[in-house]
Amino acid sequence: MNTTRALNGLFQKVPTWVVCLILVSPSVYLTYALFNNQLGPDPIRTYERSIGELGFKLILFILLITPLKDLANINLIKFRRVFGVIAFIYICLHFLSYLILDLGLNTNELWKDILKRPYITFGMVSAVMMLFLTITSNNLSIRKLGLRNWKHLHKLVYVIAIGASLHYLLLTKTWQIEPIIYSVLVMVLLFYRIISFRS
Ligand code: HEM
Repeated sequence: MNTTRALNGLFQKVPTWVVCLILVSPSVYLTYALFNNQLGPDPIRTYERSIGELGFKLILFILLITPLKDLANINLIKFRRVFGVIAFIYICLHFLSYLILDLGLNTNELWKDILKRPYITFGMVSAVMMLFLTITSNNLSIRKLGLRNWKHLHKLVYVIAIGASLHYLLLTKTWQIEPIIYSVLVMVLLFYRIISFRS
């Protein structure tokens, strides 16, 4: 009880820009390492995958904020928007590394991939939905849409997480443990949201 109170007190004191800096730093390091050839034998793939995974972790963390508050009384709601914006930055870098470094900015190839490769389709749909959530993550949008509609719109984060799980699961033709773990976590958090909404 005292520990959670102390933790919540600490979170209230930490400015959001500090959290922002901490969350952004792995992407800065990875981008630096990419351009300085420090990412091993296949730097583009390592960069693309690491950035994608970090983006997915942040999406999972956003979904964890409500259960943490409800079940453990740990309040990170103050940082929700910042998590969302930084997650979007990671997904932008992930997408750009694919478009620029893999496809050489060939947008025809991109369209072909979106239409032909289901994992790219799901990734793209999730990324576009993240764009909508990011541009509406401000007080002006809350005022314009009304809090109720805004909250409904931002429930899209669950759809994004499902799309991201499918993207990850369909990436390889064989069953891999990591995408299964991520997908199970998404399902558990979604299930929690549904039952807590009903009760
Ligand atoms: C919310 C959106 C997205 C999330 C959370 C996400 C996440 C991920 C993750 C976790 C991986 C696998 C990393 C690993 O194997 O360790 C991955 C791989 C990949 N993603 Fe995404 N992604 C998203 C959107 C996109 C988009 C929009 C594109 C491109 C249009 C894309 C292209 C790729 C590619 C090409 C790979 C395979 C990289 C390789 O093995 O060479 N992703 N993504």
